[in-house]
Amino acid sequence: MNLDSGTAGPDSTSLSRHRSVWDVRSESWIGLVDVLSQLAKLAQDDPGREERLTKIGALTEALRPIEACWAYPGRRAFAELCSHIDRGNLAHAAIIARRFHRTLASLTYRHEGTGAKNDADLPSQIESEQEYQAQLRCPYFEVLVVDDMLVEEEEALHRQVRNERRPDDDFVYDVVVVPTFEDALVASWVNFNLQAVVIRYGFPYRSRYFRELVGRRYIDGADVDGELLPESERGPLLGRQIAKLRPELDLYLVTDVNVEDVAAKAGETFNRIFFGEEDKLELNHSIMQGVAERYHTPFFDALCKYAKQPTGVFHALPLARGKSIMNSNWIGDLGQFYGMNLFMAETSATSGGLDSLLEPTGSLKLAQEYAARAFGSRRTFLVTNGTSTANKVVVQAIVRPDDIVLVDRNCHKSHHYGMVLAGAQVTYLEAYPLHEYSMYGAVPIRHIKETLLDLRRAGTLNRVRMVLLTNCTFDGIVYNVERLMLECLAIKPDLVFLWDEAWFAFARFHPVYRPRTAMGAAAKLTEMFKSEAYAKRYAEFASSFDEADWADDEKVLNTRLLPDPGKARVRVYATHSTHKTLTALRQGSMIHVWDQDFKDKAEEAFHEAYMTHTSTSPNYQILATLDVGRRQVEMEGYELVQRQLELAMNLRDQVAANPQLNSHFRFLTVTDMVPEEFRESHVESLYNMETGWENLLKAWQSDEFALDPSRATLAIGLTGMDGDTIKNKYLMDKYDIQINKTSRNTVLFMTNIGTTRSTIAYLLGVLVKIARDVDNRVRDMSTPELRIHEKRVRSLTQELPPLPNFSCFHQAFRGHSLDGQSETRDGDVRSAFFLSYDDANCEYLTMDDTAKAIRNARECVSAQFVIPYPPGFPILVPGQVISAEILQFMQALDVREIHGFRPELGFRIFTEPALELAGQANAVWKAQVNASAEAAEGE
Ligand SMILES: Cc1ncc(COP(=O)(O)O)c(C=O)c1O
Repeated sequence: MNLDSGTAGPDSTSLSRHRSVWDVRSESWIGLVDVLSQLAKLAQDDPGREERLTKIGALTEALRPIEACWAYPGRRAFAELCSHIDRGNLAHAAIIARRFHRTLASLTYRHEGTGAKNDADLPSQIESEQEYQAQLRCPYFEVLVVDDMLVEEEEALHRQVRNERRPDDDFVYDVVVVPTFEDALVASWVNFNLQAVVIRYGFPYRSRYFRELVGRRYIDGADVDGELLPESERGPLLGRQIAKLRPELDLYLVTDVNVEDVAAKAGETFNRIFFGEEDKLELNHSIMQGVAERYHTPFFDALCKYAKQPTGVFHALPLARGKSIMNSNWIGDLGQFYGMNLFMAETSATSGGLDSLLEPTGSLKLAQEYAARAFGSRRTFLVTNGTSTANKVVVQAIVRPDDIVLVDRNCHKSHHYGMVLAGAQVTYLEAYPLHEYSMYGAVPIRHIKETLLDLRRAGTLNRVRMVLLTNCTFDGIVYNVERLMLECLAIKPDLVFLWDEAWFAFARFHPVYRPRTAMGAAAKLTEMFKSEAYAKRYAEFASSFDEADWADDEKVLNTRLLPDPGKARVRVYATHSTHKTLTALRQGSMIHVWDQDFKDKAEEAFHEAYMTHTSTSPNYQILATLDVGRRQVEMEGYELVQRQLELAMNLRDQVAANPQLNSHFRFLTVTDMVPEEFRESHVESLYNMETGWENLLKAWQSDEFALDPSRATLAIGLTGMDGDTIKNKYLMDKYDIQINKTSRNTVLFMTNIGTTRSTIAYLLGVLVKIARDVDNRVRDMSTPELRIHEKRVRSLTQELPPLPNFSCFHQAFRGHSLDGQSETRDGDVRSAFFLSYDDANCEYLTMDDTAKAIRNARECVSAQFVIPYPPGFPILVPGQVISAEILQFMQALDVREIHGFRPELGFRIFTEPALELAGQANAVWKAQVNASAEAAEGE
């Protein structure tokens, strides 16, 4: 069995069918060790031999293409193992396979090298075993070399790489050689150890192993037929495709043709381009330097250094250097618990390598630049007070008083308060409701277009400044960010977008998620608007959609609009709670900006807004973890996110397949969460054995809304318990399982980059126990108890109160058309909010009294935000009219927490005289706005 002579077996061509190639790899090694050990013990004439030999054949065939993607055990070692098997040296093969498996499973191949036995075996620049061992403790990575080499040449390359190792290297690496374009794409997809790719020249296109290409499907626009390209152009194309798949990798091109010409054309894609065999040493140094740049954490490094320096503190912060703790009789346990390093790193200094977050010029400035590189933004700002603050910074920076802002009503409360502070006229957008699960989806593009067209008709479109949406939602609904921005920009080309990606920081690091991130889409739009292909596409669209079409709302709504690239501006902001999905201390957040008008239109205001909301004592530990969290995702984000995805799919499958679990619980699927009309792909399950990940890719590429599979919503109505009860009584109190969100009949489990197989196993075990408890309880119920239980199940599964829409702002707060003749949907939340500060303007009405008042045609207007948890969105905002539907929903809610509603007093609403006064103020404002609009028109 020779590795090089292998033909594509059935398993090798269907890598994409497997949920996890990494699991297939480890399971195949376990299987191989197992069967080899059994075989080694069997007599030659044992009847079980044949079957086991066939199994071994299948396992090595499955492993062959996977192993070709990794440096350890490597092509040669794997071929040797196969040849032992071929020659019947089964006992020896079992020993080798076991060693490989152990080393792989424990990841010790990263730190054991190739097993130098004496000084003569050591790399030439390393003099002692001690130096060698010290060096092997450095972080390890692999470099993919794309070249059609002979095995001997490959061995020589391995030797050369080893010999170039030096005792003072910061990292240690090994190489994986793949012979073709397609193999390189697959290896980039499979091998999470990769940090750099060296693309050489003269390699074929087609893979020997893969008939279908897994990695390529992630890359949109990958249909350029690389096979038809001249070999000299394949390298640059491969570089571009790998960059789309894994932009964090360093790319190097070695070419044998006109290097200057290639550099001019493809220089942007590659870190460096080399000519032929020149500068081999330079290549090695470049690889090390490229990795060092991503590894470097300027602020964390500065803080570590600072912590070691002797200082005398004549400033604030007695806890700095642990001084107030070490000498204390009473609080020594604080030091013991956290360890002294925390306090050694606590300081209010902004010099000595540290920096000021408010005016960064040194290590924090650099940390922000690195974060911008990692998250694909033009500029990034670190935030130490969470995304609650990040959102307010962006809103204040962009929105001026009286600007109209389109806001998803279900967005986080920080936006609503941000609108109050900014004095915006808010037009609330409605997400599609999921009545059966008491939760909302996301806002359809059609509804946003409709709203913009309403405002156009009212003559106030020019006052619309921003669209603000949550991507992805708590429950995992993800927008088609690119399409949404394109269509909105076609109606209003200077719109600013704020995407609240509090829960989506991880998405940048996976090729399926990346295109649906704000920064991914902003980069794409920028490229598109510059391209000839888009200019042509737009010209075709413009010639088929004339002024009469633009005047016809129905046509505008039913057409996929394209913006004029000469007018559209790319102005996109995203806020990340880095701490929610990546490594960072609580409150560690980031603002990412891709705004082509930032310098002209936003920089000063942004600075002021950042000053308004940022503490003058930002927490250094939070900043340091943001810096290190960034390093982590640049080095291993891809692996961590893919694992998170796979674990979530495992969790879903286990519940679906287990009869005890599936009789009580069901994870909601994309068909439950995204109605058919928003799923062009008609995909119904994101992963299955027949089509592998194909469906996920299809849905994420085309659908208006996609479901993030790493968020698993469990329907629990059949247990007869509501979300709150399961969360508090079972998950939290009894089993210490932390979850965040529940609805009446669901609980949400989120996997993250810290989730392990053991945590998933623990959760499954707990669910089994809850299911068993329910079964036992139901079995012991008397007939009346059973009837009550059944009624409860019905109420949780069939009788859910319909989710109410946003009613409307009271006319005292409502906006109006340019001619002042009609009212618009937007409302002045700020005036309403502050009107309630005077108690004399407010009164309380109980639920019943409110119902009566509504029946008597009184407009009851909320004086404050009313937010039930769950579902956690404001059911009422200041200035909003309380409708009969809202009341009905509130009455049906059986939740314990309703912020802004006092059960003993009821709703806080405005008195009628207060509304009268507010109405008069609104009329004055209306006259002022009209006058200034007329004046502007006259100019
Ligand atoms: C969508 C959304 N945005 C913003 C926030 C606030 O983030 P932070 O906790 O980082 O302040 C949250 C918090 O849950 C959220 O769900």
